[in-house]
Amino acid sequence: MNENLNLAAALTLGGLTVGAIAHGGATGFVKERMDAMSAISKAMKTIGQMMQGKEPYDAAAVRLNVATIKSHAGLALTRLFPPDSLQKPSEAKEEIWTNWQEFEVLANQLSVYAEGLEHSADNKRMHIGTYGTDHMRDGMMTSGKMPDVMQLSQMPAEGVFNMLAKTCSACHQQFRLKKQ
Ligand code: HEC
Repeated sequence: MNENLNLAAALTLGGLTVGAIAHGGATGFVKERMDAMSAISKAMKTIGQMMQGKEPYDAAAVRLNVATIKSHAGLALTRLFPPDSLQKPSEAKEEIWTNWQEFEVLANQLSVYAEGLEHSADNKRMHIGTYGTDHMRDGMMTSGKMPDVMQLSQMPAEGVFNMLAKTCSACHQQFRLKKQ
């Protein structure tokens, strides 16, 4: 108990708390990326609650949280996965390094969608509903074309948020071991 509290306190100093205790034993890059993912995850949850109406929608808060996600995306994400960094308790799959290009694409997508959400945060109130999420997403993704930040900034924030969330699961599905 005391030990856990100390660990939590130590990790809080790094500005990263969520899920920290579950990272027991992780060091180096593995720890860094678990902490980064936890920060991303916390930001997603906060935004998700606003999108679902569980918390009042606040565009400034969306921007603030999504900035955290952006700061851990793209190169900031891929640089945490050097070769041979699969030490326990990592849940990363070896496939990351055999399919590095795809991994990079997803890391960059995360960055583009995060930036897109930053720019579309004021568009929450458009009444596009699920049309704005599914159709835009599927349309863009199956055509093989990813919308750029300019296009995303014109879309409803909910739709962009969905695309962002899809990127998390797409990468996890391919490159992260399933939790038991
Ligand atoms: C480019 C790939 C990629 C993207 C995009 C990505 N992740 Fe991850 N994520 C991973 C990998 C790989 C791991 C496992 C890392 C490890 O254990 O070494 C992981 C681990 C996690 C974990 C577990 C951390 C822990 O405590 O062990 C969480 C939570 C998480 N991701 C949330 C998210 C969320 C939320 C998003 C989207 C906003 C996201 N991730 C986007 C690849 C990605």
